[in-house]
Amino acid sequence: MTEPVVIATWPFGKIAVETAYPLLNQGTSALDAALAGAKAVEDDPRVDSVGFGGIANSIGTVSLDACVMDGRTLACGAVAGLENIRHPADVARKVMEKTPHVLLVGEGARWFALQSGFPLASLHTPESVAAWARRQPKEAIPTVPRGGPDNHDTVTVLALDQKGHLGGVCTTSGLAFKLPGRVGDSPLIGHGLYVDDTAGAAGATGVGEEIIRIAGSFYIVEQMRAGKSPQEACELAVKRVNATAVRRGVHPASVAFLALSPDGRFGAACTIPAKFQFALGRAGKIEMLTAKSIGPEAP
Ligand code: GLY
Repeated sequence: MTEPVVIATWPFGKIAVETAYPLLNQGTSALDAALAGAKAVEDDPRVDSVGFGGIANSIGTVSLDACVMDGRTLACGAVAGLENIRHPADVARKVMEKTPHVLLVGEGARWFALQSGFPLASLHTPESVAAWARRQPKEAIPTVPRGGPDNHDTVTVLALDQKGHLGGVCTTSGLAFKLPGRVGDSPLIGHGLYVDDTAGAAGATGVGEEIIRIAGSFYIVEQMRAGKSPQEACELAVKRVNATAVRRGVHPASVAFLALSPDGRFGAACTIPAKFQFALGRAGKIEMLTAKSIGPEAP
């Protein structure tokens, strides 16, 4: 039997790990446990960057992105720009299980969710509406993403189950005040999440545009396939984000990565602005850890 492990992004990842880790220890599959953990974060209105209570886009709509991936078979599903549905990761799983497709977007994703029995829901809370009104940008089309440390905090959950299988989930309301129609890394397989039992699992959080630019999660998994440890692979991805920023003449955005290997080793790294904490369930305990920060000058 494999010793289960689960990791999840940010301090609120603890909510996910506290839900997923006991399930893994009871024999629940990696994907089921990761989904239960992600759903607990989606349901928590205090988390204003995921699911219910997420900060809205530039026109005041909460627009959700999510994906799931099963490391046994590379089965995956995703939704982007999903409105008025409370559990986007569950809908992504239905896309994986019930359709021949990987990604459904916008009105089509919502139609599919309703057909699948998900109820329509308001995702606003009094607090999220007030936060949106307080911080709303003046310009209709901002020229730079409003990527502060507190407005793009995806929850990514990576799990290893007792049978030695990997599963992962990534879910977010995305960059606060994003343009309507903007899609980040989180619903894009290979960018916000990638999971393959034969190499490892990786997930991302932070400014999605910078993660997409380097295909972050796929890059990390392929580094592990080539023999790098999860920690080395995450650090390489951060260095690539940094190098890309240098080439573009900008300061690196806030980006962080997590990785988990099929034998239960984990890694985490972030760019300097990110100050990235994550939650870990392993060896009978749950703890919060801080990722290694790497600036553009690092060798
Ligand atoms: N990483 C989440 C986003 O950029 O939307």
